Amino acid sequence: MATHPVHFDLSPPPLHTARLVCSLASGKTLFLAPGFAEAQPGGGCQLHGRPPQAALLRVRDLTVQLATDTGAAIPVVEAVSFDIAVGEAVGILGESGCGKTTTALALLRLLPPGGKIVRGSIEFAGRELVTSGERELEKIRGAEISLIFQEPGIALHPMRRVGDQVGEVIHAHRGWNWKRCREEAATALAQVFSGEISRISEAYPHQLSGGQRQRVLIAQALACRPALVIADEPTASLDATTQAEILALIKDLKQRLGVALLLISHNPAILAGLADRILVMYSGRVVEEGPLERVYRAPLHPYTKGLLASMPRGASESPAAGKAKLPAISGSPPDPARLPPGCPFEPRCPDRLAICTTRAPEEVQPEAARRVWCFKYGG
Ligand SMILES: Nc1ncnc2c1ncn2[C@@H]1O[C@H](COP(=O)(O)OP(=O)(O)O)[C@@H](O)[C@H]1O
Ligand code: SF4
Ligand SMILES: [Mg+2]
Repeated sequence: MATHPVHFDLSPPPLHTARLVCSLASGKTLFLAPGFAEAQPGGGCQLHGRPPQAALLRVRDLTVQLATDTGAAIPVVEAVSFDIAVGEAVGILGESGCGKTTTALALLRLLPPGGKIVRGSIEFAGRELVTSGERELEKIRGAEISLIFQEPGIALHPMRRVGDQVGEVIHAHRGWNWKRCREEAATALAQVFSGEISRISEAYPHQLSGGQRQRVLIAQALACRPALVIADEPTASLDATTQAEILALIKDLKQRLGVALLLISHNPAILAGLADRILVMYSGRVVEEGPLERVYRAPLHPYTKGLLASMPRGASESPAAGKAKLPAISGSPPDPARLPPGCPFEPRCPDRLAICTTRAPEEVQPEAARRVWCFKYGG
C-alpha cells in the first residue's frame, strides 16, 4: 500500500492554529482544522486513519555528561531516543536521579555549567537543536517549547504582578507593544482560571495560593502558544487536592489546545490518564517505552513492574492517591560515576540472568509500538 507523506506547518504561533497538511497520492492537499490533535492524540491523519509519520520532536541517541565538583565528567543520560508527535503527550517515568530533568534541560540546551551533549540529535519542527546557535535557541525557548517549573514559589518574581510576568514573556518573544502583551497575557490567564482575571493579573505571587501560582506558570508557559510544553514534576510541591486540580487542568488544556506535552514524574499515578505514551528511565537510559495503557496494564521490564507495583490501586482515577508512601524497589539506583558492568538494574533485579552482568541489553521490540531493553525478551 502506498504511503502518504504528512507535513506539519508549525510557523508561529502554532497553538490553536497548527495545521496538518496531508498530501494525498491523488495530489489533493487537505488542510485539517485546529482540534485535529484533540481528535487524534499523536496527530495521525483523521481522514486516512494512519499513524503519524512525522514527529514534532525527534530525539536520537541523546547522550549527556554533567560535571562533578572536581570537574570530572559523569554520564547522566545515555543513548536516549524518542519522538513526540503534534498534540501528543509523552510521559517520562523513573525514580529520582535517573536523568529525567537532565534530559528535559538538554532538549532546550539549558544544562548546568560543565554539562554537555556529547552525542545525538534533537530535531524540533525540522530544526536541529544540538547545533543551533544561541540566538535561534532563544527564539525557541519559551515560545515554541516552554517549560513549566516544579516550584512556582521560586519561578515567579516576588515583587512583580503576575499579569506583568506573563506579559513580559510575550513581549520578549513577540516584541508587541505593552498594551497588546497585557491583553494577550489576560487571554493566557483566562485559559487557566475560570474567572477574576483582572484581580489575579494585578496580584503579587504572595497574594495567591500555591495552586494559583502554578496556574500562572502554566499560563506563562502557554502565553506564546508553544507547540511543545515540558512539565517537569509540575505538581510536586502541591497538596493532594491542588495536585489533582492542576492535573485536571493540564489534561483539559491538552484536549482543548492540542499542544504536545512532555510530562515528567517519578510517580506513575501522575502520568496515568495524562500521557498517551510513556518512557521509563533508569540510570540515564530508557528501559521501556510504549503506549501508557499497555505498559501500565502489562509492564515488561522488571523495573517498570517494580514501579507500577508500588502504585496504589485506583491511583489512576485519583492521582492524589499516588501521594501515599510507596513501597520501594529494594536497593537504590547506581551512582552514574560507578555503573555496574552489564545491565544497570542488575543489582536490584529479581529476574536477573547469567548474561545480565556481561553487557547492557539492546533494544527489543516484543510487540508493535513497544520497546524494551532487557535480556528476558532477547536483547
Ligand atoms: N548540576 C549537576 N551537577 C552534577 N550532577 C548532577 C547535576 N544535576 C543532577 N546531577 C546528577 O545527574 C543525575 C541525574 O539527575 P536528574 O536529571 O536531576 O534526575 P531526575 O530528574 O530523574 O531526578 C543524578 O545522579 C544527579 O545527581
Ligand atoms: S537485563 Fe537482566 S538484570 Fe536487567 S532488567 Fe532484564 S533480567 Fe533484570
Ligand atoms: Mg528531576
